[in-house]
Amino acid sequence: MQHGHRNLFTAIDKKEHNVKKRRIADRYTNTAVLQSNVQEQLRERAEAFVNACTRGTSADIYFYLHCYALDCVSAMAFHPYGTKSIDGGAESEMVRRLSYHNSRPALVLRHYFPFLKYLYGVVFRRNMKHSNMLFEYAWSSMNEASHSDFTLASRLLEHPEMGMPNMVAECLDHIGAGIDTTGDTLCFLMWELSQTRNDQKQKRLSEELQTYHPENGDKLESLPYLGAVIEESLRLWAPGTQSLPRYVPNDGRIIDGYHIPGGAIVSAQSFTLHRLDETVFPNSWGFCPERWLEENGNTERQRLMFAFGAGARTCIGKFLAISEMRQLLYAVYSKYRTSPAEDMHASMEMDDQLLTTRPKDMICKLKFTSLELESTES
Ligand code: HEM
Repeated sequence: MQHGHRNLFTAIDKKEHNVKKRRIADRYTNTAVLQSNVQEQLRERAEAFVNACTRGTSADIYFYLHCYALDCVSAMAFHPYGTKSIDGGAESEMVRRLSYHNSRPALVLRHYFPFLKYLYGVVFRRNMKHSNMLFEYAWSSMNEASHSDFTLASRLLEHPEMGMPNMVAECLDHIGAGIDTTGDTLCFLMWELSQTRNDQKQKRLSEELQTYHPENGDKLESLPYLGAVIEESLRLWAPGTQSLPRYVPNDGRIIDGYHIPGGAIVSAQSFTLHRLDETVFPNSWGFCPERWLEENGNTERQRLMFAFGAGARTCIGKFLAISEMRQLLYAVYSKYRTSPAEDMHASMEMDDQLLTTRPKDMICKLKFTSLELESTES
């Protein structure tokens, strides 16, 4: 529950979920996200990311990618009142509080042992502070006038019967769902691309990105290697260690030859689905974007892809997340080469945070080298 409200994310009843989804789904379709005014917001924030990362000799992309994800998803929710956390100030403090906390275990405990809520208030006071900060931001942004036509806020405000607290709670869920998911996946991806073993892959991506000329009507979404790199990163690092539970319909179901009674809870998680079957994903722990360029086996690969879930509960932010990833990778790898920074000593081990999976030390320092400078020097 978000501030006491049951939103799209938490609606259990099918009909209730359907009504909530239909109300806002058009904001997040692929066509809606690819509109130029939405893309402009993402592009602007991607450029801000590059500016921030190229100021010094090394940049902690863990931090800036979370800023980027917050700035993009808040623009989608409230533009022109989206955050500009990459540029610093109070909004970057919001990221410092949101993306470095350990409150998820507390949420689970609170769900199962609600009578201990006063104890959590004392132990997790710092986490409550970050939640208040985000709430205040969302509340004031929702109450502003003249949101852009593409925003979630403008759609929700067409439904005054929902009431302001409920609208704010819905936006908070989307913002919460859109930060660590996109931020962490991009972080693992950029780290992997920066390893010497992937020099050729990074080079191939850069070369493809340099063929992209929007002034000639080219589309980022049509670049095959960029698409393959993103798909592979979602296979390996989308937050997928948590099982996604579903109730079996009342009349039961046969799953893999077993009868499962109605009302039972079944679940699956992408981490396993994306690795288990080596006939579909050979070298399944390895980073291999090329596999997505092969026509052979594509149906089987797509069938096992579960990064955004499946069916009626599929991630509503899927196209937004993918677009954010495209714009970010374009802004970086069309102009820069990345490698691990000399002062990077932190662990990039995947650390399960129940709903998401982040780098263990929450630090990822990369060096950005200008391709232009490199080519004039050589
Ligand atoms: C790499 C990025 C992302 C990944 C891997 C991801 C993954 C997921 C998954 C697996 C679900 C399904 C949960 C379930 O079945 O119960 C989900 C649902 C959801 N996601 Fe995402 N997500 C991402 C980005 C985003 C973004 C940017 C938004 C912002 C709008 C978002 C908003 C939501 C919402 C509101 C739901 C609930 C949908 C529903 O129940 O109908 N996600 N996401």
